[in-house]
Amino acid sequence: MKTATVSLIALMWTCVNIQIAAVHQRDTDHFIQAIQQIEDSSLEVSPLSIVRSLRRAAGHDNAFTQSFLGAIDSDSESDILKTNHSRDIEAWSLEFLRFFDKAIHNFVTDAREERGVVLTPDGTTVALAPLLQGIEAGLKARSQGLHPQDLHLLTLARTLGLSFLHAYNTSSAERLGPDGCWDNITAPMVFKLLGAPSLATDALINGGMDGALLGVRLSEGAEPHPKLSELLQSYYHFQLGEAGLDKAPRLVSPRRRENYRKLVPPSLLEETVLKFLEDRHPSEELKKAVKEGVQDFVLRYLDCPPMIPRCQWGAQTPKGIPVRLSPPLRFLYIHHTEIPSSPCLTFHQCSRNMRAMQRFHQEERGWQDIGYSFVVGSDGYMYEGRGWGRQGAHTRNHNAFGYGVAFVGNYSASLPTQHSLNLVRHRLAKCAVTARFLQANHTVQGHRQVVAGTTCPGDALYSEISTWEHYREAESPNATAS
Ligand SMILES: *[C@@H]1O[C@H](CO)[C@@H](O)[C@H](O)[C@H]1NC(C)=O
Ligand SMILES: *[C@@H]1O[C@H](CO)[C@@H](O)[C@H](O)[C@H]1NC(C)=O
Ligand SMILES: *[C@@H]1O[C@H](CO)[C@@H](O)[C@H](O)[C@H]1NC(C)=O
Ligand SMILES: *[C@@H]1O[C@H](CO)[C@@H](O)[C@H](O)[C@H]1NC(C)=O
Ligand SMILES: *[C@@H]1O[C@H](CO)[C@@H](O)[C@H](O)[C@H]1NC(C)=O
Ligand SMILES: *[C@@H]1O[C@H](CO)[C@@H](O)[C@H](O)[C@H]1NC(C)=O
Repeated sequence: MKTATVSLIALMWTCVNIQIAAVHQRDTDHFIQAIQQIEDSSLEVSPLSIVRSLRRAAGHDNAFTQSFLGAIDSDSESDILKTNHSRDIEAWSLEFLRFFDKAIHNFVTDAREERGVVLTPDGTTVALAPLLQGIEAGLKARSQGLHPQDLHLLTLARTLGLSFLHAYNTSSAERLGPDGCWDNITAPMVFKLLGAPSLATDALINGGMDGALLGVRLSEGAEPHPKLSELLQSYYHFQLGEAGLDKAPRLVSPRRRENYRKLVPPSLLEETVLKFLEDRHPSEELKKAVKEGVQDFVLRYLDCPPMIPRCQWGAQTPKGIPVRLSPPLRFLYIHHTEIPSSPCLTFHQCSRNMRAMQRFHQEERGWQDIGYSFVVGSDGYMYEGRGWGRQGAHTRNHNAFGYGVAFVGNYSASLPTQHSLNLVRHRLAKCAVTARFLQANHTVQGHRQVVAGTTCPGDALYSEISTWEHYREAESPNATAS
């Protein structure tokens, strides 16, 4: 830690005009700004020298990392860091260092606060350490002959391997996740996990996927490499137009899961995780545990659509005692919200819509909670309503038999983005069947088919879902629900 302090302070010395805000928010915006200030201060600071300095601050400059990326001291590039430092500069450099340390050094406190993570504009949370490792590996891939598989091992497979091993050793049920929520999504400072932590929290997994994706992009891209701040900016801070993700660049954060699935097929991931454990001479039983762990990972992080949890969009607690469902259910009922009538294209907009709908359902309708089980934004995400366990208030007289999924917008005359249609048609349904929330032979229906007097989910959307494989004509759930 001492040497890390010295080299970062030295690095800061090169940044003469850095203005440090008194309070550092834990979001990509502030992190990118800090990186930008380093870049602006000196033309000689290469992306590689920045990520190498931050590797130390992250506390992951260990033997394993060094075996892939090399030791920092032996590298001549770090010479630019060996400049002079004075007492004056040390005071504010320390504050800068504290920022990087808090922003990058990943661990979970006893109070289940996860550190070393930042909120991204799409509403997900990312651990910076594996992200930066992936970028560093990508920048060096050519010169060091790193194989893409090494990159996956470094960014994610090792995390999964350690977590599966630990869960196996301790007979713990937690081998993946959980996600968490920020204290305040406009000024995030504290990230609290939603349950007992595994060694592979959602933020580490998100950061590991992003690190691999950006690393591979850098290893394939032409030199000179883009500035680090530009790379992160284009991946996390892009603006979606009306067409949502349908017209967005390929390499943007809401596409994390689909991109990662293309990059690392499940069989390769399993092979890489097993390779990591090779030195430990795993027993057959442990290998089996790893296989199950990878299957669980594929289900939760690749098959299932990305979901913004209730606490993250700012849900109020339900009023009254919820009615439990008894999955697997037979029906998926499709809705449009009609109001809000415009598709939501950002995390903040979709979250505002969720809060408004919940307020309306609780206060005007007198329901316990937002009526829908799940809501689909056009930002690439689904939003958790009542979820898989609790009965909703979406489809009169049918709420016990199915889940209600609503697309934000008015789809009487136009369709949701292809991307959000696919999330429900392919991702959500597959996820729910594998996890046994929905029956394999479930039926998809529009709200209007089973409740008289509504045009929901709108003419356009209704005619779209009538082409889906699980769509069926009206039938009474009572006929077979014993
Ligand atoms: C160290 O700092 C002094 C004054 O602040 C400067 O004149 C000198 O060039 C610096 N040395 C290096 C190696 O940057
Ligand atoms: C699992 O147990 C083995 C042997 O008992 C030990 O060497 C290893 O450090 C443990 N690993 C974890 C991640 O708990
Ligand atoms: C979040 O932080 C912002 C800026 O400090 C503040 O205006 C807002 O009231 C906070 N929101 C909540 C829910 O505390
Ligand atoms: C939804 O769109 C249809 C067709 O464009 C329109 O007739 C209807 O008034 C809209 N509903 C609302 C609530 O805006
Ligand atoms: C659907 O599957 C369930 C059990 O998996 C079975 O009981 C039911 O008869 C099937 N329904 C149809 C319509 O095939
Ligand atoms: C199904 O049966 C229940 C209980 O008999 C009844 O309350 C409900 O209205 C019925 N639903 C439909 C769609 O027939």
